[in-house]
Amino acid sequence: MKVGIVKEIASGERRIALVPSSVAALTKAGAEVLVEAKAGEEALAYDRDFEEAGARVLPDAASVLGEAELVLKVQRPMHSEALGRHETDLMKPGTVVLTSFLPWTDADLVKRLVERRITCFSLDLIPRISRAQPMDARSAMSTIAGYKSVLIAADAYTKLFPMLSTAAGTIAPAKALIWGVGVAGLQAIATARRLGAVVSAYDVRPAVKGEVESLGARFITLDITSEADASGYAKGLEADQEARLREMMTRHVADSDIVITTALVPGRPAPRLITADMVSKMKPGSQIVDLAAEQGGNCELTKPGTRTTVHGVTIHGPINLPSEMPAQASHLYSRTITSFLLNMFKKGELLLDADDPIVRESYVTRDGQVIAESAKAGTQGS
Ligand code: NAI
Repeated sequence: MKVGIVKEIASGERRIALVPSSVAALTKAGAEVLVEAKAGEEALAYDRDFEEAGARVLPDAASVLGEAELVLKVQRPMHSEALGRHETDLMKPGTVVLTSFLPWTDADLVKRLVERRITCFSLDLIPRISRAQPMDARSAMSTIAGYKSVLIAADAYTKLFPMLSTAAGTIAPAKALIWGVGVAGLQAIATARRLGAVVSAYDVRPAVKGEVESLGARFITLDITSEADASGYAKGLEADQEARLREMMTRHVADSDIVITTALVPGRPAPRLITADMVSKMKPGSQIVDLAAEQGGNCELTKPGTRTTVHGVTIHGPINLPSEMPAQASHLYSRTITSFLLNMFKKGELLLDADDPIVRESYVTRDGQVIAESAKAGTQGS
């Protein structure tokens, strides 16, 4: 089985799907790893390290995609300006692709995968069961995003985070509010605490209270809660509950110097939590980092991919934060995608065992058919 890795071509993407330290595990399982030359340089994964690990470096993407039977990617396959072709056009029919994307967001790609008879798995669809934890690329990337979000806020904030008693007087600590305490939110709490901020946090799932407190933050208890589904995700709030939540949180937002929002509900646009009016009540110099920017934003004023300042309050709408830490993010992604692949790899061959829920639920397409229910909805709607 030939496993191919190419340079990611999405704008601003600096990660690579597999790093040299994961090559040995695949070769031991019977695979041969093919890598496009210079594909991992921005992630500090160099050709010579791939070769030393036992991979074969090929000159360009067309050579890798033309020979590989299985392709590992960070971002979904897409059109390459440099090649003047779509990546899927360079793959043989029957190729298996492992990548990360939400199928309902790209009906055109799903259609193309079907037409080209490419079997595609998305790591974003892996069920969040215990056995799948080592394959959980989403959590790994959220950890990086949560960490980086606090660094963005601290860098732009014109004051210090910790309380300090100096000869020049006492400095009050920054107050940070983390709104949404999933994987990214927990990491944001831990990072803000390490920098010395006083941290409070809120999530619609009251079950996270203990985790928030164990990190040294205060949990804001409100009577607005949402039951988690079987996989631990929040279900969305009704419109009237969301309005009441905004009203109750206005005071907490106004009182904070730093607000990091991470609230998401799978399959829905990000809930709109912070209105322009709430921003106008914040102190000048305050920072909002909206980690939901890519899904439409938790703040009404967020501009995805950039930052904007209103009434002296800066709102950051970063997209693809893991790509800003490409070495670490690639290392973690590589570990998760390798675990996912090895789960299906038996005696040097891919065993696409549909009885295994991890395999079954992460299919997007298989042998010219759409498998993921979410992808079917997207294709019908196109
Ligand atoms: P996510 O990125 O989809 O959502 C982030 C957070 O936003 C969630 O905690 C959610 O409850 C919260 N949220 C949604 N609407 C909100 C609102 N209006 N106000 C405040 N908060 C709101 O979630 P993520 O981080 O990917 O994971 C969520 C949960 O999934 C985890 O905390 C855990 O319980 C579960 N999980 C389970 C795993 C497993 O292997 N068993 C692995 C990873 C996560």
